[in-house]
Amino acid sequence: MNYNIMKTPMLKTKLILLATFAFTLMVNAQEKSHGIDYSAFKANKVEMNKKIDSLLSVMTLEEKLGQLNLPSSGDITTGQAKSSDVAQKIKEGKIGGLFNIKTVEKIKEVQRIAVEDSRLKIPLIFGMDVIHGYETTFPIPLGLSTSWDMEMIEKTAKMAAKEASADGINWTFSPMVDISRDPRWGRVSEGNGEDPYLGGEIAKAMVRGYQGEDLSKNNTILSCVKHFALYGASEAGRDYNTVDMSRIQMYNDYFPPYKAAIDAGVGSVMASFNEVDGIPATGNKWLLTDVLRNQWNFSGFLVTDYTGINEMIAHGMGDLQTVSALALNAGVDMDMVGEGFVSTLEKSVNEGKVSIEKIDASVRRILEAKYELGLFEDPYKYCDENRAKSEIFTPENRAFARKVAAESMVLLKNENNLLPIKKTGVIAVIGPLANTNENMAGTWSVATPQDKSISVLKGIKEVVGSAGSVLYAKGSNLSYDKDFEERGTMFGKEIPRDGRSDEELLKEALDIASKADVIIAAIGEAAEMSGESSSRTNISIPQSQKDLLNALLKTGKPVVLVLFNGRPLVLTQENETVPAILDVWFGGTETGYAIADVLFGNVNPSAKITATFPRSVGQIPIYYSHKNTGRPLGNSEGKFEKFRSNYIDERNEPLFPFGYGLSYTNFKYDNLKLSPEQLEENGTLEVSVTIQNTGNYDGKEVVQLYIRDLVGSITRPVKQLKGFQKIQLKKGETKTVSFKLTAEDLKFYNYDLDFVAEPGEFEVFVGTNSEETLKSKFELVK
Ligand code: BGC
Repeated sequence: MNYNIMKTPMLKTKLILLATFAFTLMVNAQEKSHGIDYSAFKANKVEMNKKIDSLLSVMTLEEKLGQLNLPSSGDITTGQAKSSDVAQKIKEGKIGGLFNIKTVEKIKEVQRIAVEDSRLKIPLIFGMDVIHGYETTFPIPLGLSTSWDMEMIEKTAKMAAKEASADGINWTFSPMVDISRDPRWGRVSEGNGEDPYLGGEIAKAMVRGYQGEDLSKNNTILSCVKHFALYGASEAGRDYNTVDMSRIQMYNDYFPPYKAAIDAGVGSVMASFNEVDGIPATGNKWLLTDVLRNQWNFSGFLVTDYTGINEMIAHGMGDLQTVSALALNAGVDMDMVGEGFVSTLEKSVNEGKVSIEKIDASVRRILEAKYELGLFEDPYKYCDENRAKSEIFTPENRAFARKVAAESMVLLKNENNLLPIKKTGVIAVIGPLANTNENMAGTWSVATPQDKSISVLKGIKEVVGSAGSVLYAKGSNLSYDKDFEERGTMFGKEIPRDGRSDEELLKEALDIASKADVIIAAIGEAAEMSGESSSRTNISIPQSQKDLLNALLKTGKPVVLVLFNGRPLVLTQENETVPAILDVWFGGTETGYAIADVLFGNVNPSAKITATFPRSVGQIPIYYSHKNTGRPLGNSEGKFEKFRSNYIDERNEPLFPFGYGLSYTNFKYDNLKLSPEQLEENGTLEVSVTIQNTGNYDGKEVVQLYIRDLVGSITRPVKQLKGFQKIQLKKGETKTVSFKLTAEDLKFYNYDLDFVAEPGEFEVFVGTNSEETLKSKFELVK
């Protein structure tokens, strides 16, 4: 233990020295008897503030900066934890939290160093990218968002929190709520698609799920909304690239999900890598202080992304000392990995470039989070071996994950009701994604036992059982391009390249196809073809797999394309040639079972895409909520019109619009009614519609409501989602669904960035997707 006051920084104020001395005596006194009694931190917020004040008053500058320091500890193994460099730094009070450390055993060991061997015994916070589940893994976020089921989404986050907290983790770097309208960007897989309203609803559900009502419970964890802000608008879909956007677009289209998370009480925010309005987000005071703190009243703490501060050097913002000061002054509280704060801020304090008050404010926020997590009360709160043994990857959790995965699969095409198929007869399962466990959970599944995920082949075999027979062939490599294949199969998510020639692989596939009654083609992207640093310029299915698919189609047998993807793909050709397409994303640990559930009709698909699928990569960015332009097309058949806003080589419309997804049954929309027909400023308008299940299966439907503000003080999108309901209808059943609209729903940020609803005419649309809708009109009067 180091109580040596002489080691404290030279330029500390006398006050701090005195206070330090007083506290040191107190610490010594308590230490001699029974150690520091942190249970006093439990009391209430007033009490919390008092205690944090007293702690702050005795901390050395070095200790303060330590609280702002978040290294990754991915390389620590048990036993070594005590002797590592990280351990030494913890002892010296130079670390506030750690991430990438897994298991109660290791976390306990490291926490013990903090609360027993450091001078002030401040507990560490333990973070991890628990993105779509912990060990029990749910669909990648883009897939999960297609369920449009907020209750279920919340429950996935709650279960993830329960598992992670049982394993020592108390902070997750999730939800990622970056709106993206560019599927070239690999990280679309981690977000909730293109729509601000839906994105906001999902952000709230996730935060509620992770944090619950009471953060101090041992099964809830601190959430971190990311990446603030606009990361999904990287130019050309290239990761980490420049973003340039008008403030009107920021406020109306890209900010809402972050703000929704703040309004839901998220405890932390992560700054993004990109620049915002010419200044990297990590050093952008307007973004991190004016918007986040002053306009949105965010009171939690702000962490950078991985080396976000250091990266400002390459952005051209100055040397490490300059960018570290810039970040702190802009509003950053915690420095992830880069150690810019611990290594330079003392110098900046001495030179008057940052103030102690600023540093204190950041330390306070981090201590508050630790307090709210209950760590001062019990630093081992999340380290219960029994929970670790009994609450993770349980059969119940896995059963839920199977259900969630099936609810997140989108039926893109189903010609002549090819699906669902029978379990009887011979089923050929073919494709490079058919027999891989490691690729099922998808990107950012760091805690998942990849080998325990259920492959398509295993899932189908088990669900078919003795009813039929299942044959398998790989059919092709992931890609003809070995280098590309390697880049898409990293981090243990291998699909070993087959030593056989392309011809041999194909021959084997065609042999088994010839014996089959139906062919299931499991093809598409491998898990790491999307996610961080996995941008693509060509978002089609790789050619080797296209060739395989075409050869299978030529057999004349019915072919079902079970499509794996972490982003919208260009499927124009497949949509013409393949009779049935089921988009399964990466469904998590239970993917294979869930696919079988949908293929054989145990589950009727009901998911709807939350990001537009383009016809061609050249249409990107493409999204339903676009503006009209001064020269919109005059026809909806996709006919070219000279001197209108269109292409000479492609139609304007996407292949599959936002909100699209089929079911094994059909739904008929009727009787769109508005009551009253004028909406008063403080009134409510009820929009109702009847929906009938006219097909042969019970099913679920996502009923979507859109509006269009016909005349505005700024140009307005042609459609905006303002409500949705997921309903269940038995076959033959009819239900009336109603939505309530108020002036609040019609508000937008005007040219002065005031949030207003402007009187005038609005169109309202209700339907099964953003294109197929019933339509009516009303007026907002003031
Ligand atoms: C990613 C973040 C992630 C962080 C920590 C970064 O590279 O951009 O999303 O939370 O690493 O793992």
